[in-house]
Amino acid sequence: MRGLLRLSQQALTASRAYSSSSTPERKVAILGAAGGIGQPLALLMKMNPYVSDLALYDIQGTPGVAADISHINSKAKTRGYAGEEQLGEALKGADVIIIPAGVPRKPGMTRDDLFKINASIVKGLISAAAEHAPGALLNIISNPVNSTVPIAAEVLKQKGTYDPKRLFGVTTLDVVRARTFYAEAKGISVADVEVPVVGGHAGVTILPLFSQATPHKDLSHEEAIALTKRTQDGGTEVVQAKAGKGSATLSMAYAGALFADACIRGLNGEPDVEEFTFVESKVVSELPFFSSKVKLGPTGAEKIFDLGKLSEFEEAGLKDLIPELKSSIDKGFEFGRSG
Ligand code: NAD
Ligand code: LMR
Repeated sequence: MRGLLRLSQQALTASRAYSSSSTPERKVAILGAAGGIGQPLALLMKMNPYVSDLALYDIQGTPGVAADISHINSKAKTRGYAGEEQLGEALKGADVIIIPAGVPRKPGMTRDDLFKINASIVKGLISAAAEHAPGALLNIISNPVNSTVPIAAEVLKQKGTYDPKRLFGVTTLDVVRARTFYAEAKGISVADVEVPVVGGHAGVTILPLFSQATPHKDLSHEEAIALTKRTQDGGTEVVQAKAGKGSATLSMAYAGALFADACIRGLNGEPDVEEFTFVESKVVSELPFFSSKVKLGPTGAEKIFDLGKLSEFEEAGLKDLIPELKSSIDKGFEFGRSG
């Protein structure tokens, strides 16, 4: 999670330092690249020294975004692809596919209200990814993540290319928020803070584990409640502040870039790359998908860590989140299996 500081420092010397190194060539495709998340995420991936080829796909607008970003003097060759007929070409050879395609919330909506539109978008894009880039690591940002990831799993199963180690729901923004809010509340430097966040990515399914935060600081029960609620409502805080003009885009691009960078470093064989992410998981709960700490390696999710010791308050939160998360996962499975 120290990633982006390191990332931006490396980006400054990216073209010189990495052009002659033995770092593998890595292609990243962003689907939904002309959107609120897609554009700043494309910028950050263009700054990533491990990316050699950056494909920016959207239904429209990507030629302009790609022309703009391609002038930056960093390593990644950047191309724009617009319209379904260019999707296959955008995906071909991708190592990591990041999907922020779909509609965002407006005030008063839940993430589940996005299901109607985004479920079909994700289904179509995953189907194309299965055909054109079957071995890629899939980073799903489109909401509702608790359902879009199970949808993706079902589509991939039907296509015969499902590898649970390569399918990820991006929950990094919850961790980014929890670290920021904890550091602010305790008056400590955010650069040194780690906070596990587990469960899913909507309301009470987002479960920050402040009892395991480092550096450890005592929290009163009231403080734990307030920090947990702020983390769970972080997305809504932004949706309300944007007042009808969408949801988190810039902080999400940052979080998405951190997670994609971790995926690439894992693929490249860097040791000890660990992030929290929503994956198929049989070890941490009774549910088939759950977000927890995962070790990323050359084959994707190589190890899923257990949740560690929870406080009584967190144990109660874990019990409470199961029904909602289960119902969102089941809804995704059902849609993924249909038609
Ligand atoms: P946006 O409307 O600004 O951008 C979405 C982009 O997707 C648009 O450019 C649109 O043209 C494109 N798109 C639509 N259908 C497509 C298709 N079939 N193929 C390719 N591209 C397509 O929205 P945004 O603010 O960027 O948010 C995108 C999604 O990310 C939303 O569902 C939002 O809820 C979600 N989100 C998730 C997290 C998270 O933590 N996982 C955080 C923030 C937002
Ligand atoms: C977030 O957490 O910011 C995203 O899931 C977007 C949203 O709708 O809140």
